[in-house]
Amino acid sequence: MYSSKISGFYKLSIEERLNLIKEKVGLDANEINILKNFGYYKPEEMDILIENVIASYQLPYSIACNFKINGKDYLIPMVIEEPSVVAAASNVARMTRKSGGFHCDSIKQIMIGQVQIVNINDVENAVKKIEDNKEKLIKIANEQDPILVKLGGGAVDLEIRPIETIKGPMIIIHLLVNVLDAMGANAVNTMAEAVAHHLEELTNGEVYLRIISNLATHRMARCKATFDKDMLGGPEVVEGILYAYAFAKSDVYRASTHNKGIMNGIIALTLATGNDTRAIEAGAHTYASLNGYSPLSKFSKDSEGNLVGELELPLALGIIGGLTKTHPLAKISLKILGIDNAEELAQIAVALGLCQNVAALRALASEGIQAGHMRLHKRKEQKKIKN
Ligand code: MEV
Repeated sequence: MYSSKISGFYKLSIEERLNLIKEKVGLDANEINILKNFGYYKPEEMDILIENVIASYQLPYSIACNFKINGKDYLIPMVIEEPSVVAAASNVARMTRKSGGFHCDSIKQIMIGQVQIVNINDVENAVKKIEDNKEKLIKIANEQDPILVKLGGGAVDLEIRPIETIKGPMIIIHLLVNVLDAMGANAVNTMAEAVAHHLEELTNGEVYLRIISNLATHRMARCKATFDKDMLGGPEVVEGILYAYAFAKSDVYRASTHNKGIMNGIIALTLATGNDTRAIEAGAHTYASLNGYSPLSKFSKDSEGNLVGELELPLALGIIGGLTKTHPLAKISLKILGIDNAEELAQIAVALGLCQNVAALRALASEGIQAGHMRLHKRKEQKKIKN
């Protein structure tokens, strides 16, 4: 048994860290060779992204085909380890083309910065003071990011939310910030920190937390699509999907897995574009739980018996900031998608999520996921033999 207590691990070079781990756990030469292969990253580039780096972790990078979204065709890069997901999405995307593909709403790129004020003697008076100084607070926030403001973004509003907690009353400020093409955490956190002191003065209270909320309810992505009944496998498959939806609506154990299927698509694209997968998951599942945990998608049948699917969730996806512009594959992903704005990325993500959901429900309502996997596996084995 080794001791995990290592002081100053972060100060060592990658080589030194690797040697230390090798000694501690007994890695062999082959394992060391695998760890030393950084792929398209230089070790020193990887080393500055996070702390204590010893290697680079690779996953398959794949392309989902056949998507038409708001009249435009897209090839969608996906980073995911699970077999069948990309094939199923590509297959089901075809089934929407007859009716024009996926139709997505436009999205406001507005994020919420939360400021927590505690120890307020007179909450009512404090709320009024903040209300009276709203414009001034927004101005202070905007002074933190003149470039964002110049480009048309910046703080646009401020919401005041008094809440009761186990540690007494608090006022929570929501600073609403149009972050344009960024995910937005840096801009929003900076602004939230900048208004904190003024809020303390106005309320005679104390500010503790100043941080973005991942429940991005002002950055909602929505889409709708009609899936051809015959291509899906006939009226029984449509009926099976409607039964699956009814099940998820009335049972949280099923709703969790139903939503996991949606996130298979969304997270694969989130990773492929260098976005924050944890932020997207947190926002999605919290949104799903607002009125008791529910499926994020909705299903019905049109007058011809085709399946109509809708999906709505908060999607804070950016194309600037974080890894989005520095990760070599994230940059290529935007080129493959043919996009230059964050709104389109979120529209593609929500369409992919809906498609992935239908693909999973279709498989579950017909041959079953395992049988589908086995069929794909058999095809792969045959390909291997041929080669
Ligand atoms: C597996 O990754 C995803 C599914 O479980 C989703 C679902 O059950 O709807 C197949």
